[in-house]
Amino acid sequence: MADNRGKIAIVGSGLIGSSWATIFASAGYPVQLYDIKEEQLEIALKNVKLNLELLDNNNLRRGVGLPASEAISNITTTINLEEALKGAIYVQESALESLEFRLEFYKELDKFVEPNAILASSTSTIPASKFTENLKNRENCLIVHPVNPPLFCPLTELVPAPWTKQEIIDRAAEIMKSVGQQPVKLKKEAIGFVVNRVQFALLTEVYRLVADDVISVDDIDLVMTSGLGMRYAFHGPLETIHLNAFGVRDYLRRYREGIKKVVDDFGPTPEFNESDVIDKLEKALDAKMPTSDIRKFQADRESKLIELAKLKRQLEQ
Ligand SMILES: NC(=O)c1ccc[n+]([C@@H]2O[C@H](COP(=O)([O-])OP(=O)(O)OC[C@H]3O[C@@H](n4cnc5c(N)ncnc54)[C@H](O)[C@@H]3O)[C@@H](O)[C@H]2O)c1
Repeated sequence: MADNRGKIAIVGSGLIGSSWATIFASAGYPVQLYDIKEEQLEIALKNVKLNLELLDNNNLRRGVGLPASEAISNITTTINLEEALKGAIYVQESALESLEFRLEFYKELDKFVEPNAILASSTSTIPASKFTENLKNRENCLIVHPVNPPLFCPLTELVPAPWTKQEIIDRAAEIMKSVGQQPVKLKKEAIGFVVNRVQFALLTEVYRLVADDVISVDDIDLVMTSGLGMRYAFHGPLETIHLNAFGVRDYLRRYREGIKKVVDDFGPTPEFNESDVIDKLEKALDAKMPTSDIRKFQADRESKLIELAKLKRQLEQ
């Protein structure tokens, strides 16, 4: 078992990097934040402090649950990559979403990372096999992909490259659990991993239904928020079908033909650049959430997610 209170290096301190720093610091890990500019690190530190206070105020601290004042004192910053990685047992890279960038940048990380450290990337879309193949530490690399906002959506996908050691995947999962994340281990790489495959399957059908004028933009969102989403916050699609009949076998026996008929009716994949559909989406969405006020609506969504996270914690106790 690794030293689970060893140093964590957070590489890239934007939205996701500062969320990771918050989560690890709250759970009692010493954290060093790396970025390319001092000014960015100053902004990140302010954001981490606000995040930690938000966790405190909502009783949502992570792991051992350090109070904000104590957690913040466990965070240092640096613009020196070698210093950031020195002594780190776990590196969470959350920098630019670009394969070209990662191909070069991981050569640098490979030079400085400790031989037994886990080298995890937050990338949403790029499989580790695309940028770690030629690294000497490639067996220690994997994707650890959070869901935004990670402070209130604890799911984390662990996606190995074909050469990632099982011990690294298991240790990454343990570390995630120790900070209150809920890891799921993919057994192999898949384009889009799993979160985005499922998300995009849903988005594709929603988009088609609006494009075909079956339903309005407002109403299709309501299908999720007042219908399917209510259940999915507590039971996933498989648990749902198990509960919607006398077990999964009974459900599939009763509904398989209906399911196949519907799925066979799905149309081709849209281009997602159909201008009439985009106009329709924008008009309806801007009418209720004007883009000019988007920050306000993002904050509102965060407050609602905080309440849901609190409720789920209560119910799971
Ligand atoms: N935003 C999301 O919803 C989300 C969700 C899950 C995963 N991710 C992934 O997390 C990663 C970061 O996304 P983000 O939304 O935090 O982006 P961001 O733009 O907020 O942050 C990126 C950070 O990387 C820094 N950076 C730039 N060049 C760097 C370098 N050479 N070395 C180190 N840092 C460098 C930037 O200064 C910035 O602070 C991406 O790979 C993204 O796909 C994002």
